[in-house]
Amino acid sequence: TPEETRQLLLSRIRDVADYPEPGVMFKDITPLLADPGAFRALTTALADDCRRMGATKIVGLEARGFILAAPVAVTAGIGFIPVRKAGKLPGATLSQSYELEYGTAEVEVHAEDLAAGDRVAVIDDVLATGGTALAAVELIRRAGAEVAGVSVLMELGFLDGRARLEKMLHGAPLGAL
Ligand code: PRP
Repeated sequence: TPEETRQLLLSRIRDVADYPEPGVMFKDITPLLADPGAFRALTTALADDCRRMGATKIVGLEARGFILAAPVAVTAGIGFIPVRKAGKLPGATLSQSYELEYGTAEVEVHAEDLAAGDRVAVIDDVLATGGTALAAVELIRRAGAEVAGVSVLMELGFLDGRARLEKMLHGAPLGAL
């Protein structure tokens, strides 16, 4: 059942206190990745989300989002598009900067990978402040494509990333475990 899958996946996420800095509870997905049954169950669930959204492309967010999004794209039978941290893509890119707790960061996508008519699902492991996912949404729209929805493995509810992101999704779904 979906609830059993959810419990299995939650049991494979390790909470690491005070990493990468004091006061932060890090969500470590490496136990889940090392368990092929759990990884497959997650891939299947995310691919189902993407099908329900009618996605024609899948964007994964560097780096942990890549690990989850790539098998989902293969399972769903649609293309995988990487949104990378700045300076890593060789072709013509669109760039989007966003706020971090201290300073700013920048992500990029190959401009030719997305176009009008594409319906794009965004996949990542964690939604915290929502800044990374929002930057991806901006990139997709600036490329002329449509955001079909965002699916993450888990959201950190106390950071209000959902409220921030939903404002910008115009009714497209935001799914989380
Ligand atoms: C983490 C996580 C998300 C993002 C969530 O990535 O994988 O992409 O932060 O945070 P936000 O909602 O506040 O933007 P990180 O930048 O640590 O990169 P990594 O995947 O390369 O470790």
